[in-house]
Amino acid sequence: MATGITKREQHSSDAISALDFHEESTPLPDEKSSVTLTYPNKAPINDIIQRSNRTFLEFKIDKEYEINSIPEDSFILDDNFFVLNELLAEKKKATLFYLDPPYGTGFDFHSRELEHAYKDSMGQAAYLEFMRRRLILMRECLSDDGSIYVHIGHQMVAHLKVLMDEIFGVDNFRNLITRRKCSSKNFTRKQYANINDYILFYSKGKTYKWNQPGIEPEQAWIEKEYTKTDKLGRRFKLVPVHAPGTRNGETGQPWRGVLPPPGKHWQYAPSKLDELDRQGDIHWSRNSNPRRKVYLSSDKKRSLTDYWDQYRDAHHQSIQITGYPTEKNLQMIKMIVGASSDTGDLVIDPFCGSGTTLHAARDLGRRYIGIDASFSAAKATLRRMRHGLEPMGDYVNDRKAKVLELPFPAIKRTGALCAFVVDSRLFDAYGDEIRQIGTI
Ligand SMILES: C[S@@+](CC[C@H](N)C(=O)[O-])C[C@H]1O[C@@H](n2cnc3c(N)ncnc32)[C@H](O)[C@@H]1O
Repeated sequence: MATGITKREQHSSDAISALDFHEESTPLPDEKSSVTLTYPNKAPINDIIQRSNRTFLEFKIDKEYEINSIPEDSFILDDNFFVLNELLAEKKKATLFYLDPPYGTGFDFHSRELEHAYKDSMGQAAYLEFMRRRLILMRECLSDDGSIYVHIGHQMVAHLKVLMDEIFGVDNFRNLITRRKCSSKNFTRKQYANINDYILFYSKGKTYKWNQPGIEPEQAWIEKEYTKTDKLGRRFKLVPVHAPGTRNGETGQPWRGVLPPPGKHWQYAPSKLDELDRQGDIHWSRNSNPRRKVYLSSDKKRSLTDYWDQYRDAHHQSIQITGYPTEKNLQMIKMIVGASSDTGDLVIDPFCGSGTTLHAARDLGRRYIGIDASFSAAKATLRRMRHGLEPMGDYVNDRKAKVLELPFPAIKRTGALCAFVVDSRLFDAYGDEIRQIGTI
């Protein structure tokens, strides 16, 4: 890789450092040593992937049937460990896993209807091992060109990064995305306000599906980026025609009498630069510095960085929601599904809550499987997938009144069915409650 630093520069006096004389009584680990997390009851991989042999039932209309394999386009009410284990036994492969597990907050969560939704109070080591076992199963169910996105809070993001490096390999780490989750809050504690959460993005291997995502550029961004206008009123910006690193060939020689800046070379051969100049695509500054004109096209998309400011969770009254706690932004998940899978691919969310990922996957023509252990999540997902969403309305200002007013079957059925599957052990214990959910 061209670094722009010559051999001579590497050995010059500028490169001498106090670290050259680094000496400590215990030497540092060698370069090949990797980091692993240590805590009690870290299960061997073979125990985790060993078949758990659960039986599953599917609800059709209002009756349950035993099934031999997990259907696609479905929601499964169960601890995801057993469903992932079953999917592995069935050799199902997903192109994309998106998961938004409990963040390790130490709190319990309730829906806007004040129903209990899920607990998030496991303790650090238990939480990590809980996640490790499930992430290992997910890795096994991921196709070779697949990707995984883990949405997480500040509490466990550092631990999960180390854990995912261990499971997926440091080389398969792609991004640690910072997502702005809300606007500034009235924050009175003696610390900085927390307005972000994080997404760890890994691919299964070196080659993975990627459809470059982009967003519509805002006018303010266009004006800042494309500062120049030509005679016809077309906006353009100027970009350098040189790149880092020196070259001995023609791109390292003067062009039109101008040498590339020190430590750089021309990006194009002189013949190509001549052609660009002939076409009027080179702009010469007053001190003869050539730069290339890049015009703003009508379909220009702004590339996404690893800072997402535009996907906050429901924050104004017209946004459509289910009312499930920690429900994520649908547009954000649509973007992820679009970027990391193609039409017809299988998308799995093993902590699907209100089914936001299933909704995004269905809208984009992907197959989907959602799993959640919470009865409240089962209701929210089936209701959303079978009947649609409701605007948030005045939940924010008049929460109590709205909570009382939100009757469960009030929305028109859309006809788009999402299969409902349940672990038979759960059904044996809670048959009546599950049957009721099945009729949604
Ligand atoms: C943060 S919420 C997910 C919210 C979801 N992304 C949405 O948009 O609605 C986490 C979910 O994980 C579920 N969960 C926790 N442990 C689970 C387990 N072992 N198996 C399945 N689901 C689990 C909880 O019930 C909860 O619904």
